[in-house]
Parts: sequence; C-alpha cells; structure tokens
Amino acid sequence: TTKKLWGGRFTETGSAQTDTFGASIEFDQLMAAEDLEGSLAHVEMLRDTHILTPKDAEQIIQGLHHLQQQLAAGQLQFDVANEDIHMNIESLLTQEIGPVAGKLHTARSRNDQVATDFHLYLKKRLPQVIQAIKNLQTVLVNLAEANVETIMPGYTHLQHAQPISYGHYLMAYFDMLQRDIERFQFNQKHTNLSPLGAAALAGTTFPIDRQQTAQRLGFTCPYSNSIDAVSDRDFALEFLSNAALLMVHLSRLCEEIVLWTTYEFNYLELSDEYATGSSIMPQKKNPDFAELIRGKSGRVFGHLMALLTVMKALPLAYDKDLQEDKEGVFDTVKTIIPCLTVLAGMLQTAKIKTANMAQATTRDFSNATELADYLAVKGIPFRQAHAIVGQLVLEGLKTGVTLQEIPLAKYQALLPDIGEDVYQDLQAKTAVQRRQSFGGTSFQQVKQQIARARQLLNAD
Ligand code: ARG
Repeated sequence: TTKKLWGGRFTETGSAQTDTFGASIEFDQLMAAEDLEGSLAHVEMLRDTHILTPKDAEQIIQGLHHLQQQLAAGQLQFDVANEDIHMNIESLLTQEIGPVAGKLHTARSRNDQVATDFHLYLKKRLPQVIQAIKNLQTVLVNLAEANVETIMPGYTHLQHAQPISYGHYLMAYFDMLQRDIERFQFNQKHTNLSPLGAAALAGTTFPIDRQQTAQRLGFTCPYSNSIDAVSDRDFALEFLSNAALLMVHLSRLCEEIVLWTTYEFNYLELSDEYATGSSIMPQKKNPDFAELIRGKSGRVFGHLMALLTVMKALPLAYDKDLQEDKEGVFDTVKTIIPCLTVLAGMLQTAKIKTANMAQATTRDFSNATELADYLAVKGIPFRQAHAIVGQLVLEGLKTGVTLQEIPLAKYQALLPDIGEDVYQDLQAKTAVQRRQSFGGTSFQQVKQQIARARQLLNAD
C-alpha cells in the first residue's frame, strides 16, 4: 500500500485491510463538488491575504477548475488508498499541477475541510427537500379545494366519530407539512455557518480571512468558536430529526391510503401507475408504494438514532467517529425526496370514491353528537342529553333504526320542544356545515384554511 499524505512520522505503511477499514471515499465522494468549491474559496482567500503568491494560487485555481470539469464529465477516478475525498482530490491535484498543490492545505485541516463540505452538501439539499414538500402541499391544497363538500366519516379510535369534509382532512396534512418546512428552514440557519478556517481545532497562525471564505461559499458567517466548528454536527442531527418527523407524517398518510384502498373501506382507488399486481392472485391491486413509504420511515428513524448515539459521548474536538455522520444523512436525502414525489403523484392520480365516503355516513351514528347538541340548545344539560341519545343509539343498534328514522312523535314524547328541524340537523352535510368554529370542518372554514394555505405557498 502506498505512502500516505500524512505519512511523515510513519516508518511503515498500513495494510490493505486497515486502509479499507478507515477509508470513507466509497461514500464521501458524494461531496466531491463541495470539496472542490471549498478548496477554491480557500485558495482565493490565501491569495488575497498574501499567504500564497498570486502565481502559486493561480496554478492551484487552474488545477481545481480542471478537476471540476473532469468531475462534471464523470472522469475523476478515486482510490481507496487515498482514504477520503479530501486526500483523493489533493492527490489528483498534485498529478495535475505538481508539488505546488501541497500549498493548498496551508492554514487548513481535514477537520474544518470535512465539516465545510458537509455543511455545503446539506445547504444545497435543504432547498430541494423544502421544494419537494411544497409540491406535495400543492397537491393536497388542490385536492382539498376540489373536495371541500365531499363528506366522509371522521374517525377517532378508527371508529366513526363525526362527519367531516374530505378537504378538511387533507388540509390537516398540509399543516403538518407546513411545520416540517418551518423546521427545515430553521435547520438552514444552523447549516449556514462556515467551519472553514477553524483548521484542526484551534485556529491558525496564518492571517486568514474567515469572513471572506464564509461569504464566498454563501454562508451567513463563520462559526464563532473554532473548537465548536469542527465538532458540531447539530445541523446534521436537526436534519435527521426533521426528516424523521416528516416521515412520521408521510407514514400516517400512507397508512390511511393502505386502509382506504381496501375492499372494506373502498374510499380510494390508486391509479395503475401507483399500484402493483400479484404474481399469483390475478385480482390484486396492491398499494405497494404507500407501504414502501410507510416502511422507509424505519430507516430514517434509524439514521437519527445512529447519529445521536455516535455523538453522545464524543470528546471535543474532532474524532474519527465523526466519519460515521455522513452515510445516514446521504441516505436520508436519497429517501425523503422520492417519498415526497411518489406520494404527491399517488394522491394526485388516485380516484376518490366520494359516493362511498358519503354512503358511510348515512346509516351510522356519527350524527349522535348533533342530536345531543340539539337537545342541549333546547335547555337539557349536555350531560343528560348525552345519556338520552346514548339510549336511543343503543335501541337503534338493536332494531336497525337510525336517528333520522325515529318518528317525530317519539322525539316529542322525549321532549315536546323537538321540531321537524331535528331531521335537518341529523344530516351529515348539515353536521359538517354547522361546525363553523375557527379551524372547524364547515365548508366556509375549510375554504378559509385553503386560502391561508395558498398564501403560504405563494409567499416565496
Ligand atoms: N474522512 C474524514 C471524515 O469523514 C475526514 C476528516 C479526517 N480527519 C482526521 N483528522 N482524521 O470525518
């Protein structure tokens, strides 16, 4: 095995086994573009602060530009003997321009370098994640708008509770996703700090300009403490935690899609593109992709737990344990964006069986609260009204008579004040319409939710 860039104080080379074990190039090559970007900012700063001569700096800049072109063309070859992306790039640069390449690492350590690359990597992906969430939100708002007046049973304990607007239900997911966006936006604030110039941990004796490199790389400002700069992975943990919560939301929605496409519920039918068949049962139309999104929540939760565990007793500053920070984050990005995109397409193309949804509210007792409310308005204490209606439900379940089918005479025997208008109140649509409290399920309130949502979507 070849001599290492750091091999000065070593008399023997490592083994192929330990080279491979310690290497991260297999996965951190995903940050090759960021590494080159960081190096360009660094060398320009070294030139501007007269730490390097313009001539040396120019050679290095040309070399880095050439590597950027080769990377874009897919022509860069990495070698596991060079351990990680940073030393692979330095070694490739040396092949390009000779020993002057060695001046690039002046006033820099791989510790601030890797942290910078990782920040840059996430900084680029966060807007993509936020955009993918917004696209799903747009699908939800459009569906909600088309289904303000689609009546369905609302559930608690998965038992019929009260009738709701399907649009209202969809907007609940919009709001969850809005909080996800806000969390990722907050995450951007902490990802927007530049570790570059922290060097190994203590800063450097060279007169570097951390403000300049931070600005050149699009960061808000440099980390204010060099030890924190190379040790901090909060931005990655925040990302994983935000992604885990996002996946909780997607998984709940997918669970309902799986449930609602069953023969028993039959509220939704997936388009052929978003369903699969069975190799043995010809009749099958399976919601595989909803299940897969639900299942993929597991790996994202796992990545969060893994990094929390890596970090929890790590002494300051850099420790090689930190090399374990990247794969989970990369995999999370690779997981959540397609989950969001596939789910958006799935929802957009699914057939909503509005008749079945409405039908499910016609012969159930999800209007029992309406009757209790009606009695309460007539002056019966709500607790007593609840008991009276409970008795009627019990009887109805035995005899197969719904609350709408109880004759007026019987109602009036209970309370002479009850009028014909009780039947109006007992209709599911009326039950929905009358829930006009802020954030409630009335058509008017749902329309207002949709209007507020559209404002948020158009905000930037
Ligand atoms: N490959 C390393 C990582 O991912 C880069 C930093 C190595 N620094 C060091 N002092 N060994 O963390």
